[in-house]
Amino acid sequence: MKTKTLQMTTNVNFDRIARSYRWLEHLTLGSALQRCRTHFMPALLHQRRALVLGDGDGRFLAALLAANPQLHADAVDTSRIMLQLLREHCAAASSTAATRLKTHQVSALTYTPVRACDLIVSHFFLDCLTQPEVDLLIHRLAANLQPGMLWLVSDFRIPPNGMRLPAHIFVRSLYAAFSLLTGLRTTHLPDHVRPFTEARFVRIAHHHSLFGLLTTELWARPIVHPEADPIGYRVEVEAEVNLTQVL
Ligand SMILES: C[S@@+](CC[C@H](N)C(=O)[O-])C[C@H]1O[C@@H](n2cnc3c(N)ncnc32)[C@H](O)[C@@H]1O
Repeated sequence: MKTKTLQMTTNVNFDRIARSYRWLEHLTLGSALQRCRTHFMPALLHQRRALVLGDGDGRFLAALLAANPQLHADAVDTSRIMLQLLREHCAAASSTAATRLKTHQVSALTYTPVRACDLIVSHFFLDCLTQPEVDLLIHRLAANLQPGMLWLVSDFRIPPNGMRLPAHIFVRSLYAAFSLLTGLRTTHLPDHVRPFTEARFVRIAHHHSLFGLLTTELWARPIVHPEADPIGYRVEVEAEVNLTQVL
């Protein structure tokens, strides 16, 4: 079962739409996605080592490297052309990007980080994966993560209000378009909340936009274990929530 789903994702190819991705995005959603990606940028200025999964043409990573000159990053993507555009965008945004950025053309599902990181970023990437793949990815990476690290995730969502039906129709058409253009076989938004929670992450902040269709969320792995020290755990989570609230 796992081998089959991994095989399906490996066949996805974003090379064909890599150069037009930015313009397709602008035509459909304007600047809403980039605003969503960068919403929590002020919370990322003290991180030192990032693992960025499926960042596409790298507009987010370019902005992050420019905003945080101490940060080193590993970017993982299966698309050769997306990675090439990512390197170009990062080099244009920061003169030190070449020494701070390493790219890896490999599936995130099989990539093993070589260095410990204190930030993982996945913008509109988990929704390319099936539910078993999201479960596998989060559990695999969580096994090697330092307590205290952050995972920034953005994705589409179906809001529980009057926008539910239009959101369903929009998301279904997006999947149909990506299936045609890239060979993507995923057809439903996977749930990332359950695997994050199972891996002992806590969602410390979230922001919904575009009538609830977009979500960006900061998940943290508290340093204190909730069962070993419930009070210390609560204090730590509340401190992180307060930090992100003043941003
Ligand atoms: C929908 S695009 C999202 C791009 C960008 N993160 C954004 O915010 O728009 C998905 C990206 O993930 C990459 N991708 C798809 N499956 C992957 C996998 N299994 N491992 C690594 N990258 C993958 C694609 O090549 C593409 O660059």
